[in-house]
Amino acid sequence: MPADPLWYKDAIIYELHVKTFFDSNQNGYGDFPGLTQKLDYLQDLGINCIWLLPFYKTPLKDDGYDISDFYEVSPEYGTMRDFQDFVNEAHRRDIKVLIELVLNHTSDQHPWFLESRFSKTSKKRDFYVWTDDPKKFKDVRIIFSDTEQSNWTHDPVSGQYYWHRFFSHQPDLNYDNPEVQKAMMEILTFWLNTGVDGFRLDAVPYLFEREGTSCENLPETHAYLKKLRAELDRLYKDKIFMAEANQWPADVRPYFGSGDECHMAFHFPLMPRIFMAIRKEDNTPITEIMQRTPVIPESCQWALFLRNHDELTLEMVTQEERDYMHREYAADPKARLNLGIRRRLAPLMNNGRRQMELLNSLLFSLPGTPVIYYGDEIGMGDNIHLGDRNGVRTPMQWNGNPNAGFSEVSAEKLYAPVISDPLYGYQAINVEAQSMTQSSFLHWTKRMIRVRKNFKAFGRGSIEFLEHKNPKILAYIRAYENETLLIVNNLSRYAQAVELDMKKYNGREPVELWGNTKFPKIGELPYLLTLGPHSFYWFRLSKV
Ligand code: GLC
Repeated sequence: MPADPLWYKDAIIYELHVKTFFDSNQNGYGDFPGLTQKLDYLQDLGINCIWLLPFYKTPLKDDGYDISDFYEVSPEYGTMRDFQDFVNEAHRRDIKVLIELVLNHTSDQHPWFLESRFSKTSKKRDFYVWTDDPKKFKDVRIIFSDTEQSNWTHDPVSGQYYWHRFFSHQPDLNYDNPEVQKAMMEILTFWLNTGVDGFRLDAVPYLFEREGTSCENLPETHAYLKKLRAELDRLYKDKIFMAEANQWPADVRPYFGSGDECHMAFHFPLMPRIFMAIRKEDNTPITEIMQRTPVIPESCQWALFLRNHDELTLEMVTQEERDYMHREYAADPKARLNLGIRRRLAPLMNNGRRQMELLNSLLFSLPGTPVIYYGDEIGMGDNIHLGDRNGVRTPMQWNGNPNAGFSEVSAEKLYAPVISDPLYGYQAINVEAQSMTQSSFLHWTKRMIRVRKNFKAFGRGSIEFLEHKNPKILAYIRAYENETLLIVNNLSRYAQAVELDMKKYNGREPVELWGNTKFPKIGELPYLLTLGPHSFYWFRLSKV
C-alpha cells in the first residue's frame, strides 16, 4: 500500500528523551541500543510515532537543546550507527520517528560561536547577533525569566553583547546571514537522509530580530520556514514539520501558511485550559479557546498535549488565569518555574485515576494528534527538588528492581535519581507491575489508543460543540466521511446529567466505543445522559 502522506493526522505520538529510557551499556544514561530494545513496549502500547528530544553533541546545559555539533550523536547515547539502527527498527514496526531541529540557537561551545566570539572580524562573526548597545530590541520579553535578566549577554572576549532568547549559554543564530540559512538547511538534509520522518521545529518564532517589534513571528521567519519546507518537499514526499510556537492561535495560524509551511503545530493555549476546565468544573475555558482557534489548511494538523518535557507553560493565559493555575496546581513555590509549573500529569491530578482518564479523553478526542509524554501512560510522578525542568525528566520506571530497571549502575551514577517516594516511586509505579494487572492505567491507556485508532474522525474529523444547559459537561460531535462520533465529558467530581439536542441524529443509535454497548436510540426529545464523577463517553452514532 502506498504511504499515506497525511499519516500524521492519524498518528499517536510518544515523546521521549533517549537519556530517560533504557541504559544498555551501564553509563547511567539511556542510549539508542537501549531504546531499540524497548521498541516492543512502545509498539505494544500502540503508539505509531516517536518524537525524540535532542540527542546531538552538547555540553548538556539545557538538556541537549544546547547543541555543540549538529552532525554528531552525543556519545552518552551511542553512535550514529546506533541511531540509524534505531530508526530502521522503529520503521520495521511501522513507527515513525520525529527528531528535533533546533534552528534558533546553538551552544556557546559550538565551533561557530567559539570562532564568532574570537574577534569582531572573524569569518563567523555574523553567524550570531552582536551589538554594542544592549538596549536594542528592548521590547522583547525574557522567556527564562527565572535565570536570565536580559536577552543580551556581554562577551568579555570580543567586548560586544550577543543576543539570546533562552539561556545566556545559548546564543541565537543570525538568520539575516544567508550562510546561516544555508548551514541550517544542510543540517535538515543530513538528518532527512537518515530516514527520519520529520522534525519538531524548536523555538521557531524567534529566528529573526527587527527593532520596534517583539521579534516573534516576523514575516522574515515565515519566509525562511517556507524555504525549508520547499526543500523538504523537494527531497522527500511524506516528511513533516511540527512547530513549537508557544503563541496565541491567531499567531500560530501563519505557521501553517497555506499548507506550505508547517504540517503541524502544538496547540499551546488549549493545554492549560484543559487543566482549568477540570479544576473549575466548567467547559468554558475549552470552548472559548476552541472558538478562537482559526481554521487551518486541509493538510495541516494541531498537535495536542497535556504535559511535555518543559514546565506546564502559562504564557498563553491572562494574569488572572495564571494566578488561578498557580493557586490550584502549584501551591508549593518549588513546583513553579519561569511562568509555569514543573509537574507531571499524575501529581497535577493528585494521582486521581478518573481525572487522569478524563484528561486523556480530552487529549484523544479533541481535534488534533495526541502527544503522550513518556511515563504518563503509567502515571509517573516527578521530583520538584531537582533543578530546572529535570524533575519531569527522571528515568523511566520499568520494574521494581534497583534504579527502576532503567540501569544497572550504582544509583549515584544515574543521570538523575529515579522517583522513589512512596506514592509515585518505582516500586509502586512501574511498567512490569502494570502489565500484570488488567485494571492498570497502562492497560487503560492501551485500550484508549486502540479505540481511537478505529476511527479516522478523531484525527481528521470536524468538531461541533453541542449546546446544553450544564456547564460541567463538555459534549461534541466529531465527524468524518461516514463516521459520526459523540463525545461527552463530565468535568465535575460529582455525577451529572445533561440533555443534548440531538434531533439532527434522530433514529441513530449511540454505541459506546469501549464496550461496544448500545444505548437507547436518539429521538425528537432531548437525549438524556447521566455521567459519574469525571467520567466520559465516546459513542459512534450508528445508522441502524
Ligand atoms: C524549547 C524546548 C526547551 C528548551 C528551549 C530552548 O522551548 O522545548 O526545552 O529549553 O526550546 O532550546
